[in-house]
Amino acid sequence: AQLLALHGPNLDLLGSREPGYYGHTTLAAIDAVLRGEAERAGHALSTFQSSAEHALIERIHAARHEGVAGIVFNPAGYTHTSVALRDALLAVAIPFVEVHLSNPQAREPFRRHSYFSDIAVGTVAGFGAESYRLGLLGLLAHLARAA
Ligand code: DQA
Repeated sequence: AQLLALHGPNLDLLGSREPGYYGHTTLAAIDAVLRGEAERAGHALSTFQSSAEHALIERIHAARHEGVAGIVFNPAGYTHTSVALRDALLAVAIPFVEVHLSNPQAREPFRRHSYFSDIAVGTVAGFGAESYRLGLLGLLAHLARAA
């Protein structure tokens, strides 16, 4: 199947951004691990990062036309603000796993609410870059069950 890893705002700065929360792994390294893991399981994975809400929404719309079967999504700051991104995922009805490097539940109160958790297949948070790989494995297991 075709899969998509989608990264929200400021995640292009991974590697140098608040390493206490987000570690030293770059987004390119995370994407490479995800691509390798997907290919090992016989799938293909494309990746996209943007800090712009509209670009993320348009990438989600395009995913429907591409027949993307599942999305690993770190909405980053939009986790806590974006009704529009939530609506985009509901519109295309593509199963997705929500991932976070940090554990938002253990941080400021405004990070405790997510616009995505209740419509996600599941959420993985708090394991640094490893959250993405675990999220992808969860997504693959979900797709295998659904097939
Ligand atoms: C994040 C957590 C969010 O609260 C924050 O705004 C981010 C990154 C994470 O991966 O831990 O930008 O999604």
